[in-house]
Amino acid sequence: MTDASQADAPALNITDGNALDLLATRRSNLAAQLIEPGPSDEELSQMLEIAVRVPDHGRMTPWRLQVLSKAAQIELGELFVTEFAKTEPDAGEDRLELERVRPKRSPVLVVVSSRTTHGNDNVPPVEQLLSGGNVCFNLLNAAVAMGYGSQWVTNWPSRNPAIKNALGIPDDEHLIGFIHIGTRKSAPQERQRPELTDVVSRVESLA
Ligand SMILES: Cc1cc2nc3c(=O)[nH]c(=O)nc-3n(C[C@H](O)[C@H](O)[C@H](O)COP(=O)(O)O)c2cc1C
Repeated sequence: MTDASQADAPALNITDGNALDLLATRRSNLAAQLIEPGPSDEELSQMLEIAVRVPDHGRMTPWRLQVLSKAAQIELGELFVTEFAKTEPDAGEDRLELERVRPKRSPVLVVVSSRTTHGNDNVPPVEQLLSGGNVCFNLLNAAVAMGYGSQWVTNWPSRNPAIKNALGIPDDEHLIGFIHIGTRKSAPQERQRPELTDVVSRVESLA
């Protein structure tokens, strides 16, 4: 189906070799390996524009992105320590320090949350959640395409009510990604990928 806006849009060059290289070779860097300088404000804006250019059934925009300043990252680290100590009261200072630095490891931290709604039978919450996953992944890809490293992490803080609350994410919404972005300290090692024969099958006819 073609609507007017699609007909007016310029043709996209989707056979560009650089895009294929990116998709074929992209991988994450550990957040702790992402150092200054981070992207400029202009570069970050471009990454965010790319991040929200994702499949979104019904144009529901069921996701939100928050770019945390360094001051907010530091505050978040203190909250990680407070919340971690509640569940692990015997944790030593070294362990707590790991939590303290967690959100401020990279120059840029973007928090992505999934804001799904019920009531649209054609676009159930699971589809809206998947669209949010695409936002996270597109942000990773945009960062790498612009020469930076990136990593998507969640871990226990993404499910902690007090941390979600401090970020303005209601209990019934999901914090789906802490996206770290910065300059790569070193190139990441390749990671073993699944054999296609293990995960892909050809369907010639239905049983
Ligand atoms: C939803 C989600 C949450 C993740 N959370 C973590 C995490 O908390 N800690 C971590 O080390 N990796 C986490 N990962 C894995 C990394 O982001 C990444 O996938 C992995 O390091 C290597 O994958 P890549 O090189 O193909 O990007 C998560 C991945 C996804 C999809």
